[in-house]
Amino acid sequence: MPELLPVLTESDIRTKVSSLAQRISADYQNKELVLMGVLKGAFVFMADLIRQLTIPVFIDFIWMSSYGCGDTSSGTVTRVSDFTTDISGKDVLIVEDILDTGLTVKELICCLAGNSPASIGVCAFIDKYGRRENDCRADYACHRVKEGFLVGYGMDFAEKYRHLPGLYELNTTISEEAK
Ligand code: PRP
Repeated sequence: MPELLPVLTESDIRTKVSSLAQRISADYQNKELVLMGVLKGAFVFMADLIRQLTIPVFIDFIWMSSYGCGDTSSGTVTRVSDFTTDISGKDVLIVEDILDTGLTVKELICCLAGNSPASIGVCAFIDKYGRRENDCRADYACHRVKEGFLVGYGMDFAEKYRHLPGLYELNTTISEEAK
């Protein structure tokens, strides 16, 4: 069995991101929208998403980390660096590469809420719903899966594979053996 199993091609991703961008553009027409990308993983999705939007947006990033170098969440979310945009009275859409246990988004919503935004939404490239530990949900998602360790399109395993233009499921058994 290969280490990487294809899940979405570059072309599949382009189609899905484009359709999501159309929905977001319609839903946030005439609003002051801040797209809050969550580093590091969301940088590729964010770059593609904004170029398909037809409305003006503010862009910012916050750097959160929970996985370290392993393939399971450490359970502790660390804010590595903060955003700088004044989000008070604006609509904020969190842009994640993946919504998994929900711990990162839950922590982020708490932190954003303290800055009095008009609303907080969640847009995840992947909504991986099988291990959710709280009531966090994706208002927008390109692809939903129950389980599997996904890499590529910004997502990593021990910092590998972020550069891949497609999405793959990592066979973690093979990956561990190769270490
Ligand atoms: C990943 C991903 C999300 C988070 C989702 O980040 O980018 O931010 O985990 O997992 P959760 O829903 O279980 O909290 P990671 O900590 O791996 O950092 P990275 O983005 O730098 O890869």
